[in-house]
Amino acid sequence: MNKALRQAIIAGNWKMNKTRPEAKALIEALVPYAEKASCGVVICVPYTNLETAIALTQGTNIKVGAENCHFEKSGAFTGEISADMLTEMGVEYVIIGHSERRQYFGETDITVNKRTKAALEAGLKVILCVGEMLEEREQGITEEIVALQTKIALMGLTKEQIANVVIAYEPVWAIGTGKTATSAQANEVCAFIRQTVAKLYDQATADAMTIQYGGSMNENNAAELLAQPDVDGGLIGGASLVAEKFAVLLEEASK
Ligand code: PGA
Repeated sequence: MNKALRQAIIAGNWKMNKTRPEAKALIEALVPYAEKASCGVVICVPYTNLETAIALTQGTNIKVGAENCHFEKSGAFTGEISADMLTEMGVEYVIIGHSERRQYFGETDITVNKRTKAALEAGLKVILCVGEMLEEREQGITEEIVALQTKIALMGLTKEQIANVVIAYEPVWAIGTGKTATSAQANEVCAFIRQTVAKLYDQATADAMTIQYGGSMNENNAAELLAQPDVDGGLIGGASLVAEKFAVLLEEASK
């Protein structure tokens, strides 16, 4: 496996945090750190902060993402946002299938596939989240779960399309809990996802894919996680809300 074949990306997932003034302050603090980074830098922010984020990151190396989008193009879907609405604003990325959407908002593997397709068709890059629950890990079925989630999410997508997909391996038991997967666990599942993609498409496609780890990655454990051969950056919740912490992750992923 050759890390030089793909880009490491550090993506912040702000979740339901930051008002517009707070977002402005955080982004202004992030810009100088991001300038020094050679990894990809993405911030996925609440819809209400997208316009602010796009304006403040113009001419910088920070790309802006949303945290979800709907799968229909338009219509009677009160409260939803379409992929076209995002691209029209200048949004480049969208997180799809985050475990919080799966746990609290009825997201299924099928709706993840529909959203992924809609987002790619609209020209967005997708950060697709997969990961097992604690009971599933304890049952020894992590690989089955992650393979199923990956295969269903990518159903019907061409090789050209999946060049715009980043997969984030996020074990649900590690998200926001302070319990990080060990670097060996993270690498093992990221490598397994790469093999799954290789079987679905081909080895070159799999080798070119950015596969991140996410789940309590922070300024203290990032160096070890990011040094793993199959871990290409991270999807970062808590530590993306503090510029100095996020900066450490950017530095580590740029090594
Ligand atoms: P965390 O969240 O870093 O706060 O664990 C990661 C995520 O949910 O993407």
